[in-house]
Amino acid sequence: MTRTMRFVPHRILRACSLPYRNLSSSVKLSVSSPSRRNSSMTTSNFIVSPSATLHGHVRAPGDKSISHRAIMLGALADGVTRIGGFLEGEDCLATLQAFRAMGVAIEGPQDGSVIIQGVGLHGLQAPHEPLYMGNSGTSMRLLAGLLAGQTFASVLTGDASLNRRPMRRVTEPLSRMGAHIVTTPAGAAPLQIQGNPALQGIDYTLPVASAQVKSCLLLAGLYAQGRTCVTEPASTRDHTERMLISFGYSLEQRERRVCLHGGGRLQAYALEIPADISSAAFFMVGASIAPKADIVLENVGVNPTRTGVITILRQMGADITLLNQRQAGGEPVADIRVRSAPLHGIRIPAELVPLAIDEFPALFIAAACAGGETVLTGAEELRVKESDRIQVMADGLQTLGIAARPTPDGMLISGGAPTGGVIASQGDHRIAMAFAMAALRAQGIIRIQDCANVNTSFPGFVELARGAGLTIDAVST
Ligand code: S3P
Repeated sequence: MTRTMRFVPHRILRACSLPYRNLSSSVKLSVSSPSRRNSSMTTSNFIVSPSATLHGHVRAPGDKSISHRAIMLGALADGVTRIGGFLEGEDCLATLQAFRAMGVAIEGPQDGSVIIQGVGLHGLQAPHEPLYMGNSGTSMRLLAGLLAGQTFASVLTGDASLNRRPMRRVTEPLSRMGAHIVTTPAGAAPLQIQGNPALQGIDYTLPVASAQVKSCLLLAGLYAQGRTCVTEPASTRDHTERMLISFGYSLEQRERRVCLHGGGRLQAYALEIPADISSAAFFMVGASIAPKADIVLENVGVNPTRTGVITILRQMGADITLLNQRQAGGEPVADIRVRSAPLHGIRIPAELVPLAIDEFPALFIAAACAGGETVLTGAEELRVKESDRIQVMADGLQTLGIAARPTPDGMLISGGAPTGGVIASQGDHRIAMAFAMAALRAQGIIRIQDCANVNTSFPGFVELARGAGLTIDAVST
């Protein structure tokens, strides 16, 4: 873990030393090729030997979505915000670094603690360089909303994967609010944001169920004149709404519609961030498929907009019990006990897809080890995550001898007995961790390439997994 923490700021600082022109004069800006930046990075492969058990108590790191939002709202609040349980992964550190670059004094992170001297909604300063978001879609999309209404210009950029991801889903509604944002011709980052302090509220229905787009518009709405309303086609994670309320901001919420008025204030707040259910999910799947497992995942966030993975695994026959259910910092939390169970394939209900959107790499591994066929449809969003998670997972499963057929919006998987093999994770953290868990049922060694990005969401994954019974090593190349 210490190794990771030393490595991260270096990687982010290097990225900040890009050529940068004067932002205040023009939005015609350029930054150097992100691919150059990637070429010199250390990479890491996982070597995972067959093992049969997961056991003991595991505390996964802090929730990534909540950690991002805590930095953002803490920075914009009046007063001092104290955060515990902050995720010290590269994605959230990119968000933290961006606010430092905009003049916010932030202490930490130190053992999960962060102290933010809030500057108020109108206290951010113009950054001197492009803000580098690394691999983090959440940082980029939420910050795009927040920066659209500032008095200064800014540029958001990321690594090669992030700079390929679709950004029109945020820039289009933001431009309807009056924002001036230039994307690449492909509708991607770098995003050149002019800053317009006279945004107007809108009433917007999301074409795709996306918490990032919803949150982007709500953050822009803080700066807009009048009312901003967002209606979603299906429920997505509601951490932004919960946290705005905890910071004292008024919201109107009815079913899948949320509205706020611009011009309010945020009041600093002390919050404790639970463990990330998306990280715990790897251990839920691992313990379910391992022949002999009994594990307790401690202090996990079980917000109902995130628990699709539990519902799906239970429908497949998993033995999962929620213990000690409680509330912490405006979010429901529980300890989760998972024991080995014979899984069977299912047709995954469409309404669960947005509630488990980040857990499909792990769920595909569960399906590969289940009896019968699992069918996923309505999940085309998986194609525009950190990698094309439908194609990359199907390729990896086929390498392990599993019949996996990708479709435009999902996958058909016939469960079987995975072999060993070499998996290309394509730099996608969740794909690397999902295939590591497959070793609990594999008949040979699984070698997973390009795993450095596991540090974006789960620093210390290898050590934690090894402590729980996985035979895993990380090898730098
Ligand atoms: C996130 C929302 C989801 C999720 C991502 C985190 C968030 O993305 O995949 O990892 O924190 O709002 P979409 O909103 O694009 O589905």
